Amino acid sequence: MNPLSEIICREAAQRGVLPFARFMELALYCPVHGYYETEKDNPGRHGDFYTSVGVGELFGQLLAFQFAEWLEPLRIADCGLRIVEAGAHDGRLAKDILAWLQLKRPKLFEQIEYRVIEPSPRRQKWQKETLKSFAPRVRWFTGFQHASRITHHTKFNGIIFSNELLDAMPVHRLGWDARNKKWFEWGVAVDGEKFVWAKIQSSALSPQPSALESVLPDGYTIETCPAAESWWREAATVLGQGKLLTIDYGFTAAELFSPGRMHGTLRAYFRQNASDDLLANVGEQDLTAHVNFSAIQAAGESAGLKTEIFSTQSQFLTRILEKTLREKSSGEPVLPKSDGGGSEDGWTSAQARQFQTLTHPEHLGRAFRVLVQSR
Ligand SMILES: C[S@@+](CC[C@H](N)C(=O)[O-])C[C@H]1O[C@@H](n2cnc3c(N)ncnc32)[C@H](O)[C@@H]1O
Repeated sequence: MNPLSEIICREAAQRGVLPFARFMELALYCPVHGYYETEKDNPGRHGDFYTSVGVGELFGQLLAFQFAEWLEPLRIADCGLRIVEAGAHDGRLAKDILAWLQLKRPKLFEQIEYRVIEPSPRRQKWQKETLKSFAPRVRWFTGFQHASRITHHTKFNGIIFSNELLDAMPVHRLGWDARNKKWFEWGVAVDGEKFVWAKIQSSALSPQPSALESVLPDGYTIETCPAAESWWREAATVLGQGKLLTIDYGFTAAELFSPGRMHGTLRAYFRQNASDDLLANVGEQDLTAHVNFSAIQAAGESAGLKTEIFSTQSQFLTRILEKTLREKSSGEPVLPKSDGGGSEDGWTSAQARQFQTLTHPEHLGRAFRVLVQSR
């Protein structure tokens, strides 16, 4: 057993069967040994989680263009604007966004404070290294409450956003007991040197009620993520005026209850391969589940936000690209060239390739959804 497995074993010995959400939290975020604590220092893992950020700079540039458009009406001389990113990992997306704003919207750039919400000291260190040239514009906080305490403001104006944060939050795994017509929770127990699935008899959790429940087959499995819903509600609460945006792979509640998804959406990624063995390779494999966008949308609306956009990544980025092209026709290119090459219309081959990967339905275009809410 590796040191992380031993930590989980000790907790299981004290508490009995652990909810899967607790197992996932420790496997991904346990200080020192968790998957996301060690990911950057482990080159063998490269590609275990491949996000739009890794495709290239274009993703951040398109987001920056959209952010600038959203922030422009909020520019009030005596009021600072914030762009707040959570789940920034190694800071690459922040760098792409800040570099575009500095180059293309210098006045706005000077008015922005870029905040990174990052609970892990180790990841903060990676981010500070990546963002050192933007140091005067960036501030780090461990959470929204920490930011409120330090700045003495409970609310701020601007944009709060994340890319693939909610799908990395710990989920509870529920099974359907068709005979008794009720949900039970799957937990994790220890059997010798191995982790095994065990039912938690007393769990009060159940997914949002669905008309399909009465016809679900025995053992039908689904995940629920109270952590993502409460994170979103908290983000909505601290947003004064502006937008709250997330990009994640996920479904609406109706899509989640698909008869074809008997075993839920939880997956492990180990050395670039998807695996159903969620309890193996503890701390060495990524664990992720699809986001229930209906639940997230309802959480934001319950905190007073209005839903503005719920679309695929493809539709969202294509709309932004169209706007950049309209702006370009009245001036210089909006998207800076980075590979030196390029056609006469300013669109380089690298940018074209990146855009295709980000928007093609077989790549990242369809599975990824974008939710934007506003106040
Ligand atoms: C799948 S990675 C995505 C990283 C990056 N946003 C990207 O798109 O490449 C998820 C990241 O969210 C971070 N994370 C998880 N829970 C968090 C929380 N409550 N606050 C801030 N970051 C969190 C993880 O540590 C990890 O760096």
